[in-house]
Amino acid sequence: MAVKRTPFIAGNWKMNLDHLQSIAFVQKLAWSLSDARHDFADAEVAVFPPFTDLRSVQTLISADSLPISYGAQDVSAHDSGAYTGEISGAFLAALDCRYVIIGHSERRTLHGESDDEVNAKVLAAHRHGLIPVLCVGETAEDLEAHGPSAVPVAQLRAALEGVDGSKGLVVAYEPVWAIGSGQAATPAQAEQVAAALRGVLAEVFSEETAQATRVLYGGSVKAANIASFLREPNVDGALVGGASLDIDEFSSIARFKKHVGA
Ligand code: PGA
Repeated sequence: MAVKRTPFIAGNWKMNLDHLQSIAFVQKLAWSLSDARHDFADAEVAVFPPFTDLRSVQTLISADSLPISYGAQDVSAHDSGAYTGEISGAFLAALDCRYVIIGHSERRTLHGESDDEVNAKVLAAHRHGLIPVLCVGETAEDLEAHGPSAVPVAQLRAALEGVDGSKGLVVAYEPVWAIGSGQAATPAQAEQVAAALRGVLAEVFSEETAQATRVLYGGSVKAANIASFLREPNVDGALVGGASLDIDEFSSIARFKKHVGA
């Protein structure tokens, strides 16, 4: 049964743009999308700035009623207490964040985040009404040793332990070898893994939840390749890193339907 999932184009800024730069950037992005008469029914557009930008982004988006969503790049597994340097989901909710990226490969690799920790963060996000953008993906060595879907599927299963499927979720398949490398997966590769991930969602939650959940592809997405991914039935959008820092490029990615004339 075909279910309509609104495509989701998410910009992961990583550790780029301070709070002043974030204001100018979001304002210009909104102008660019509005000049191009972007239809947000064609694609929801979201930005994921650093924590220190979120208050500025919230103020701008709410003051100007901009139709852009936003969220944080990480969240603590804990709600409050002696966790120096951590950010509670309660604080993100207080800034009206709708989403939070969890389990990005840079967190898993550079900060040693385990599957258990990622799972605890998904549960924490849900406690505070945030929708996790849960990242999974295999390294080049994993791909060689286990094939394309085994590692992302195992990561997804582990992350969903005890999770209530009715609380909202976006899954992002990001092969580690494709991130920042300029070497994106092929649309067929992305589709194969996205379909396997949707299968896990059906098994863990229900077919209905699986059909309603957006599964993104991420890794060297740009305006020139976005349409080929979105043509795949199980790919519902993209998590964009480098190209999300270029307003024209990101806005063009969001308008993928227009530039292929679909
Ligand atoms: P990239 O990053 O688009 O620069 O490859 C994607 C990501 O890390 O989310």
